Amino acid sequence: MTTEPYRDTTLSIEERVADLLGRMTVEEKAGQLTQYFHFGSMFGDAPQTGDGEPNPFFAHIRTPDIVENEVAAGRAGSVLFVRDAANANRIQRRAIEESRLGIPLIFGFDVIHGMRTIFPAPIGLAASWDPETIEAAQAVAAREARANGIHWTFAPMVDIARDPRWGRMFEGAGEDPYLGGKVAAAQVRGFQGDLGAENIIAGPKHFAGYGAAVGGRDYEEAEISDSELWNVYLPPFKAAIDAGAGNIMSAYMELNGVPATGNKWLLTEVLRDTWGFAGWVVSDANAAHSLEAQHFAKDQPDAGVRALNAGLDMEMTMLTPAYSFLPDAVADGRVDVAVLDASVRRVLAAKFRLGLFENPYTDEGLGAEVLGAPEHGEVARRAAEHSLVLLKNDGVLPLDRTAITKVAVIGQLAASKRDTLGSWSFDHVTEDTVTILEALNQAVGPDVEVNFAPGASIPEKKFKSFFDDSTHPNDTTPEDYDDEAEAAKAVALAAESDVAIVVVGERQTQSGELASRSTLELPPAQVEQLKAIAATGTRVVLLVMSARPLDLRWASENVSAIVDVWHPGTRGGEAVASALLGEFSPAGRLPFSWPQHVGQVPVYYAHSTTFQPQGASQRYWDDASVPLFPFGFGLSYATFEYANVRVSALSIGVGESLEVSVDVTNRSQIEADEVVQLYIHQRYGSTARPVRELKGFRRVEFAPGETQTVTFVLGPDELTYWSAATRGFVQEASTFDVWVGGDSTASLGAEFEVTA
Ligand code: BGC
Repeated sequence: MTTEPYRDTTLSIEERVADLLGRMTVEEKAGQLTQYFHFGSMFGDAPQTGDGEPNPFFAHIRTPDIVENEVAAGRAGSVLFVRDAANANRIQRRAIEESRLGIPLIFGFDVIHGMRTIFPAPIGLAASWDPETIEAAQAVAAREARANGIHWTFAPMVDIARDPRWGRMFEGAGEDPYLGGKVAAAQVRGFQGDLGAENIIAGPKHFAGYGAAVGGRDYEEAEISDSELWNVYLPPFKAAIDAGAGNIMSAYMELNGVPATGNKWLLTEVLRDTWGFAGWVVSDANAAHSLEAQHFAKDQPDAGVRALNAGLDMEMTMLTPAYSFLPDAVADGRVDVAVLDASVRRVLAAKFRLGLFENPYTDEGLGAEVLGAPEHGEVARRAAEHSLVLLKNDGVLPLDRTAITKVAVIGQLAASKRDTLGSWSFDHVTEDTVTILEALNQAVGPDVEVNFAPGASIPEKKFKSFFDDSTHPNDTTPEDYDDEAEAAKAVALAAESDVAIVVVGERQTQSGELASRSTLELPPAQVEQLKAIAATGTRVVLLVMSARPLDLRWASENVSAIVDVWHPGTRGGEAVASALLGEFSPAGRLPFSWPQHVGQVPVYYAHSTTFQPQGASQRYWDDASVPLFPFGFGLSYATFEYANVRVSALSIGVGESLEVSVDVTNRSQIEADEVVQLYIHQRYGSTARPVRELKGFRRVEFAPGETQTVTFVLGPDELTYWSAATRGFVQEASTFDVWVGGDSTASLGAEFEVTA
């Protein structure tokens, strides 16, 4: 029997792709570029129209048979949302055995911060400032996903977010392009490794500018200057691509008027021509279809044509694909078959690269061994420990076990497994999660009593979304809940305790997609409760469980300690308990500037010096215009001292590098990590540069009393920027300030010259 060349593993991927492409019809090519949601029975039966027919808008979502029949007919290249090996194999069999050419499907899924074992929310992972831990976490996520039959994740989300009203701040690395780039690259390395049997392809998203949605309102347009695009919003994508990301997802919204999914400048000029990206681009869900609703495309056939011609390779859809009209467009010349072929080539190359033609199926026994493996839990615990940010401490922390007998734990979130995990977790086992309450109970030992009061409740969302309707029930407040009585009980409990650990924040569906909000305030009843607790005289440790900064003005002045715990994941409760008890020192740092209140938004550290820089903190007459906590901020149980910032050269030429070194000493008797940060400022040039820009950081472990010298390199990579004056990347002769320290307000510095 002769084997077709595309099945011959001795040939190169290019040769195999070329052979297979030569055998495909135009319909099959369009099919390879189509990715369908397959929700199984998640949403029940299809709702019907008045005539008793399935409502066509929901048909594909609620009738998985429609999708499976498309697979069997060779009209689908990928399926998403299937997340168990048996189902993946069953559907794969239909592609392999029933479609004419037997091309395997590639299965995609949102593996955002874990599959079975859930890690802290991505914004919390970023707060670790620890690329190694982040990489390890995503390598575990990949291993578990692959055991479930998944080949590709729609992650990392690398959108810069400077407006915390935007719910998807949850998924990103915050406000800074340098930190964002390092976190993005670490995630790509973790997911993809060497693309072996335990890895998955990473798909950084949402290309590009989604985080700049006007007003922080999800899906709204982004208007971003070229300078901001090249210097702030695009660098994390570039970093992810340089780390080898195999895929990119296009964004929903209009970028400067042109929908990202039909934006040729973004998808072709930047991504392919400038950066040389060789992987494939998938649309966000229904984003090609939406080009019509966004009043960009004339109709669905036009949407498909414009998306493909812009550079969108694959359409992700729950609906009749806009790409199903491509064969007509090829026939009448609106699409050049060479353009279609280029996209198909990219998709097929990924499938060959993953070895799917040789191994399309997943071992169904693997899950039992891999999913939730104990060593994965250890990685999750370590990641959660590294993510915690200590925002205030008057000395109450770490808690002294010998000096307390009664601890009050207050707040619904302290006991909610689901909220401990956070948004974008679908395939976890909720019961595996350790809450803060459970972990504290375990950790304090027999001589300390832990009592719990849920207290003032968390109000429900006014507008719910698709994400409130997930496979795992969300925790909500019971209907007959008596808020006042519960708050009174909480205050009474605090009064009779030695310390009150109060957990405030948001439920898991209150951030994420379609979870933007108009304020950052804590619910008024919670603030009242907090005031009453503080008035009892019992010391208060406030834990903030959320993926965005909240208004902590009152708390920051009136409680003893504040720790941002994010949504800390499966083993998060244990991480929090051991931090409170001093088993390690928190060392996470804020990946964003923490506003005083919503009226300051957007507030970020890398702003321009601008006119009258001395007035920067008083730009409003009614309130300060500086954040409550600066970017990069986080306290420690240890005390670190920085000394001897020095540069290896006082002057270098353009294109040359120098070293910046600092001596850091742990002046305490405990082991602790410190995140050493380096910021620069270019004093003059073809444009005015931000007051400060992060250009180096390192999370370093210190023994008690230890001094270490930390050295950073500054060269063309760090000193180049995109100039709106020259409309290109430049490295300019100038004087540079450099500061090194524990946050973005570091005052210890030096300067150097760059000469032409
Ligand atoms: C989100 C994407 C996600 C996709 C698939 C969309 O609504 O914007 O981030 O990957 O759904 O679930």
